[in-house]
Amino acid sequence: MKKAIKCGVFGLFRGAAHITSILQNDGDVVAVCDRDEEKLENARKLLGDKVACYKDFDEFINHPGLEAVVLANAFDGHVPFAIKALEKDIHVLSECISNGTMAEGVALVRAVEKSKAIYMVDENFAFMKFNWEIKKVYQGGTLGKLLYAEGEYNHPEMPGDDDVMRRYRPFPKHWRNYLPRSYYITHSLGPLMYITGAKPIRVTAMPVFAPNPSDSLMGLDVGDRAAIITTLNDDDSVFKLTGCAAFGAHGQSYRICGVKGQVENLRDGTDRILLSYNEWDTPQGVNRQSCYVPEWNDKDSALIEASGHGGGDFLVAREFLTCIRENKEPVLNVYLATTMASVGILAWRSILNGSKPYEVPDFRKEEDKIKYENDYLTPFYGPDGKEPTLPCCSRPDYKPDPKLVEEYLNVVTKK
Ligand SMILES: NC(=O)c1ccc[n+]([C@@H]2O[C@H](COP(=O)([O-])OP(=O)(O)OC[C@H]3O[C@@H](n4cnc5c(N)ncnc54)[C@H](O)[C@@H]3O)[C@@H](O)[C@H]2O)c1
Repeated sequence: MKKAIKCGVFGLFRGAAHITSILQNDGDVVAVCDRDEEKLENARKLLGDKVACYKDFDEFINHPGLEAVVLANAFDGHVPFAIKALEKDIHVLSECISNGTMAEGVALVRAVEKSKAIYMVDENFAFMKFNWEIKKVYQGGTLGKLLYAEGEYNHPEMPGDDDVMRRYRPFPKHWRNYLPRSYYITHSLGPLMYITGAKPIRVTAMPVFAPNPSDSLMGLDVGDRAAIITTLNDDDSVFKLTGCAAFGAHGQSYRICGVKGQVENLRDGTDRILLSYNEWDTPQGVNRQSCYVPEWNDKDSALIEASGHGGGDFLVAREFLTCIRENKEPVLNVYLATTMASVGILAWRSILNGSKPYEVPDFRKEEDKIKYENDYLTPFYGPDGKEPTLPCCSRPDYKPDPKLVEEYLNVVTKK
């Protein structure tokens, strides 16, 4: 029997989903941490009285025998907690993005390089069924050399949806109220990097400014509905990405184009794949074009099928716990994680500076670490209430309609 790795989960909104995935993969959840008593109570109901519940991270991380933690606290707040865990050689699965500032990306890489523990970022969309299949096709080699790929994460929410506002941005200084459209980058870029192995080296971006009607998932100050990002990669290919967009209809889509053909998932809410070759490059015995729903063909197919985010939640936990058991470096390691974060952060600088291109650093290199080690620019409020140092809208002078602001405040302060 596999040894049950003793895990803790920090942040119990998104973090609650991790509990199930850990248990399904022969992990044990021995401790949880959230400042919100109601969320701790829900965890107690799920895990029983044996789970230790903490409100303070420093007490939680000292829980006896803790071997691994999942960080599912605020989007821009993972690094200080990751460093505390890594200093104790406790393995870290961090929610996206890995780091909210460039300087924190450097600090995180330095901490991982010093630690004996494994670090992995939770990029679960890379493990969705269609992406699993797209990876298999691409790595089979029939598409030829990678030239171009698209990754789109599109998550509009109905304007004025009180429930969404209360759940996803429960107080005025919450990170989603100040989330620039390029920052939530991993669900578009992560799958492309995971599938192809290509690594962005330059980034440029344009905003789609359209504040009305306002989208309920993001704050009113955000103003934009999308960031359209392009990267030039280390193999001369180009990616076109969104961060978290809110245009057209909800969904996520990926397309990989080689010299000989292309593979993509359909934007119809199914897991269908469309695989197409040029007539002169179609492999023998294969149709020039095929459209199909892939199969998992995995020992855990039933659990994967039932798991959140198209099977991605189960598979991320399986990968993380397997890497710990086998002392293996995850593909979604700190270098891939910080490259993704750099693309999201520097795409925003590009937008604020007339779509100027930025070189994407490689934090394996000391000179790239030094360049960014003191760069703490951020569009978010600090945990101590410190003001943002960057605007969160592509038009820095944009101010939302005061009536809408008042409506939002009424919604989140109403019990
Ligand atoms: N991979 C995915 O599919 C996916 C989906 C949703 C969210 N996320 C990521 O998960 C993370 C959390 O997202 P969310 O929507 O749950 O955010 P959230 O801000 O709604 O929830 C964070 C939780 O952490 C707790 N918390 C934060 N700081 C704390 C502290 N210092 N001490 C104790 N408790 C603290 C809060 O009380 C809250 O319950 C983000 O990084 C987000 O990007 C990923």
